[in-house]
Amino acid sequence: MIHHLSVSAADPKGAAEFFADVMNGVVVDFQPNPGSYMVFKADGHGTGIEIYPAGSVMVPNGDPGAVWELQPADADRRTSTHFALSVDKSQDEVMEKAKARGWKAYVCDRGGHFHVIEVWIENTWLVELLPPAFAAEYLGFAGMVCEMADPNRALDSHQPQARTLEPA
Ligand SMILES: [Fe+2]
Repeated sequence: MIHHLSVSAADPKGAAEFFADVMNGVVVDFQPNPGSYMVFKADGHGTGIEIYPAGSVMVPNGDPGAVWELQPADADRRTSTHFALSVDKSQDEVMEKAKARGWKAYVCDRGGHFHVIEVWIENTWLVELLPPAFAAEYLGFAGMVCEMADPNRALDSHQPQARTLEPA
């Protein structure tokens, strides 16, 4: 399982408060990278999300551990990283909370296998939030993939959309 991961935001505290809200988690200051926050959820897995100031990137630093460097202010904030997160909120609640922050949010069908709510944090990067019904669909799909004789066929119905792989 994944215990925690890190992302960045122009307003790290606002993003942390959003995640704490949908996760029923708590926000703490993340001292190693000043201006950062960490959201913890007491779910038995220690699920956590670190939110760094936009432009923070991690670089190796030997035994003392990673350090953060700051990219130029005009650097592209899009990213290949996203994650899917189960939440104990309804579809309507998630949509309302995203909309309240002015963030784009869409209910999406992933190839007929399961649904997610795409929430575009600060309209810049993606998290997929799964209310209980969507999480159940996902778990059923993931379990089925692992049981298939040819799991490589599992995503056959989920093909690229128009514009996929066009230059950014
Ligand atoms: Fe995903």
